[in-house]
Amino acid sequence: MANLIDGKLISTQIKDELKEEAAQLKAKGIEGCLAVIQVGSDPASSVYVRNKKRACEYIGIRSLSYELPEETTEAELLELIGKLNADKSVNGILCQLPLPKHIDEDKIIDAIAPQKDVDGFSPQSVGAMVIGKPGFLPCTPAGVIQLLKRSNIDIEGKNCVVVGRSNIVGKPMAMLMLRENATVTVCHSRTKDLKAVCSQADILIVAIGKPLYIDSSYVKDGAVVIDVGIHRDENNKLCGDVNFDDVAPKASYITPVPGGVGPMTIAMLMSNCVESMKKSL
Ligand code: GUN
Repeated sequence: MANLIDGKLISTQIKDELKEEAAQLKAKGIEGCLAVIQVGSDPASSVYVRNKKRACEYIGIRSLSYELPEETTEAELLELIGKLNADKSVNGILCQLPLPKHIDEDKIIDAIAPQKDVDGFSPQSVGAMVIGKPGFLPCTPAGVIQLLKRSNIDIEGKNCVVVGRSNIVGKPMAMLMLRENATVTVCHSRTKDLKAVCSQADILIVAIGKPLYIDSSYVKDGAVVIDVGIHRDENNKLCGDVNFDDVAPKASYITPVPGGVGPMTIAMLMSNCVESMKKSL
């Protein structure tokens, strides 16, 4: 049976470290402030936004909340971001995705000043990550790296297969594993014989967006399995992209859902906020 990678525990350790750092910065007169923007009232987004604001409170970072109506125009949102970019008391800006269809997400992400882009989504942040320059790392992939490192799992030289190629998870995940000297393969919906490719993975990272898609037939004996998916099953219970009960006996390490990757995303957002505060030292 696999060792469980406890994302809840590891994220709490990280948040406690950050709380201490934030207190030290505060003693030097540096206050943290994260602006959180939500457009519309998508229920899943509301949960994420609430948890992000709670994490700020826990760490001792002020959060500014902008809950805008669904009808907000692109111009209005751009104007708000412009104001927050110029506001010296704000060191992080987060616009919860997805945005309503009449707003161009790329335009909004691009408008956030790179030095306040604590989500790490802007083209400048992504470019810096790819060439190994300083910048904010996207939170979910950075959280996966922390889960592996803090569980003492070696990455260097390992065969890593990333399933999924989204801009938020798959692509940056592959880049960060490459930075850690893994040999990385990225799979997607057009990959031929996904099972055969996944079966070669020492570290299998699944962000495919399909509930319970990966069963033990995709997994090499002793592999490390990281599940980025989050869904509700037919009984309204949370589940991931990986069939945990089937895969766990075959894996050496595995993340559960909930309590695996999920809590790490917010911990790494807080880490980016504290990094941003340090830059005003
Ligand atoms: N929507 C889903 N995940 C995220 C995230 O990490 N940040 C933002 N801003 N929106 C999201």
